[in-house]
Amino acid sequence: MNSNGLPVLPEPVAALFPSGAERQRVEQWLTEELKSALVRVQSGPVTPTLDLQAFGAELARFDFATPRPLEEMLRWTVNRLEHGIVQMGNPRYFGLFNPGASFPAQLADRIAGAFNPQLASSASSPVPVALERHVIDAVAARAGFAPGSTGHFATGGSEANFTALICALSAAHPDFAAAGARAFAGPVRFYTSRDCHIAWLKIAHQAGTGREALRLIDTDGGGRMDAEALRRAIAADRAAGSVPVMVVATAGTTGAGMIDPLHACADICAAEKLWYHVDAAWGGAAVASDRLRPLLAGIERADSLTIDAHKWLATTMGCAMFITRHPTLLPQVFHAATSFMPSSVAAVDPYLNSVQWSRRFVGLRLFLELGAAGWSGLARHVERSVEVIARIEKELLARGWTVLNDSKLAVLNVVPPGVGDIPAHVRRVVASGRAWVATAKFEGRDVIRICATHGETSAADVDALVAALVELC
Ligand SMILES: Cc1ncc(COP(=O)(O)O)c(C=O)c1O
Repeated sequence: MNSNGLPVLPEPVAALFPSGAERQRVEQWLTEELKSALVRVQSGPVTPTLDLQAFGAELARFDFATPRPLEEMLRWTVNRLEHGIVQMGNPRYFGLFNPGASFPAQLADRIAGAFNPQLASSASSPVPVALERHVIDAVAARAGFAPGSTGHFATGGSEANFTALICALSAAHPDFAAAGARAFAGPVRFYTSRDCHIAWLKIAHQAGTGREALRLIDTDGGGRMDAEALRRAIAADRAAGSVPVMVVATAGTTGAGMIDPLHACADICAAEKLWYHVDAAWGGAAVASDRLRPLLAGIERADSLTIDAHKWLATTMGCAMFITRHPTLLPQVFHAATSFMPSSVAAVDPYLNSVQWSRRFVGLRLFLELGAAGWSGLARHVERSVEVIARIEKELLARGWTVLNDSKLAVLNVVPPGVGDIPAHVRRVVASGRAWVATAKFEGRDVIRICATHGETSAADVDALVAALVELC
């Protein structure tokens, strides 16, 4: 009992909330541990080396009955990650759009974790909400969107693209919010190229339009959506009683980095009165560069836009952006009324403008990157990747390889002389751990897909990749 006769409160759980001195000790130790692990990761194999069967047995022994020292848990975790993942932190990872994370973005994660602000409401987190908005406005302006455009951070391109479909459906029919897809006079349809990111199928499912709503339009032989085929598909669907609502142009296809005809798609949307979304999840980073920006001409005509910072802008995972030129639509679409939230400001509070409710402070990553590097630094980062790819292309062409995709961005689709079994070639390269490349299809052909994803890839890394490809394919 204390002096007021009340029972003494139990001590906080020390394993969860240790003393300041203990925190400092563990943090310093972890910082050193991560630093040396990253050095080994950068020069080691790109692919996991851990025996996953043994790991499964090891994991099963964590029955969580007997607590273990945190430091032991951390040491184990860092070691297993060092050997148990494909290493995006290795500059010979020429893989999918997963970056080697920038240092400012990693520090942003640390700050967000320490303060753990709740970004649902502007009253809870006035500074983070304003800061994220400032970054969105800067990116929107860079993309050529008019002042007054709006947007928010999302967990990934898939969430941002889902947001686009919900906006398109809501804009297409005033009763969509209440009645869902039944509001429409016929089955809903939306259009993108067959080389789109195939998460659009899941998005159609989630949005309640059904996967059949997605029309995959043929490409033009060069990996870009065929605008005439798009026009014909819309006309055929209307004739059959379906209701077209949206066209999605991809600016930087996942497989080949191709950019759909952005102006032609905008013209079709204007003529057909359809929502125009540009999925620039990866390629949108090119807005940072004055040199590359012209490749995206027409992006500024979109009703909405997806750009992932966690791809070519090198933030840590879970950092995408949704931007729209229709500032009043988001608070209508994501409207909710409740008395328990600290604020309910329609055009401001993230929980009233986006899919998420509770949300993490992810925008800080891009804020710190932009603050520390400026647009010029991000421009140099994306331009450097293009130069890395140009160098790989030159080296492979000199060895008789063929390049199939005509992309000006940082993705190469190649086949070796004699072609052979492409998936088997890729499996050999990946298994060697010398570099990481992917298999993709370009216009129906198997190709080796090489993408510059790491901001520190050196000439020696390029040589190592080329040597692995030439020796193993
Ligand atoms: C063009 C495109 N759109 C969308 C996505 C999905 O983005 P996320 O993985 O961030 O959800 C990707 C992922 O690679 C992509 O390349």
